Amino acid sequence: MEIVICKTKEEASRKAADLVAALMAKKPKAVLGLATGSTPVQLYKYMAQDCAAGKISFKQAKSWNLDEYLGLAPTHDQSYRYFMDKNLFEHIDIPRKNTHVLNGLAKDWKKEVSAYEAAIKKAGGIDLQVLGIGSDGHIAFNEPGSSLASRTRLVSLTPQTVKDNARFFKKAADVPKQALSMGVGTIMEARRIILLAFGANKAEAVKGAVEGGVSQFCTASALQMHPDSWFFCDEAAAAKLKLRKYYAWRAEEALKAELDA
Ligand code: GLP
Repeated sequence: MEIVICKTKEEASRKAADLVAALMAKKPKAVLGLATGSTPVQLYKYMAQDCAAGKISFKQAKSWNLDEYLGLAPTHDQSYRYFMDKNLFEHIDIPRKNTHVLNGLAKDWKKEVSAYEAAIKKAGGIDLQVLGIGSDGHIAFNEPGSSLASRTRLVSLTPQTVKDNARFFKKAADVPKQALSMGVGTIMEARRIILLAFGANKAEAVKGAVEGGVSQFCTASALQMHPDSWFFCDEAAAAKLKLRKYYAWRAEEALKAELDA
């Protein structure tokens, strides 16, 4: 686990974008795992800029997203499919047919999730997974109490997550209470994982994920067991880490080695 700590979210997102660019240069057919939420928006802007500048291309890439609200149509302006179209896919050269988001309207969710997992496997597995983190330490929609071995499935959101996400909806009552989400076990199969965390309201979650015990009560803590996981934090999100100076120093070396490789 490497913890990159930057002054601003822009700086952290740029560094994360450098890892994406390095992968795309090495492996144009890369399989990306993508996340929604406000956190990765800046990273997606940099990916679009890099693509527009001709530095990288996503023409041969494929993507699978982490999760989708149950009951929202892909055209709903709060669906994660809509979010991905507006914040990334419409700004890069990835063919739309190569992008995958769980169908929140699937009649048979069990069929939907097993087909989703099978498709990821068929594509060779995820090379790089982007993650945000919930204020309770969740990744995707793997709320506290989710098995660390969980697979893509139907999940129920906690009242805290519903409250956190209410800011995107017209009224709190409109926030779906259930979602389809990749499991922790599914996410852990990605070859590389980069988690972004910005702002003081993520500091407790980051502390639990990095310095707490590995526990289903903070599902991001599973990343401690991953051989190639990276946290990109701003100073506010990293503020509660005891060893933050050590992590920052070590990660600087690791990132440099990675980008020089
Ligand atoms: C939702 C998403 C997560 C995301 C989290 C944090 O719960 N399912 O993938 O990490 O929100 O969102 P934000 O980045 O807006 O703080």
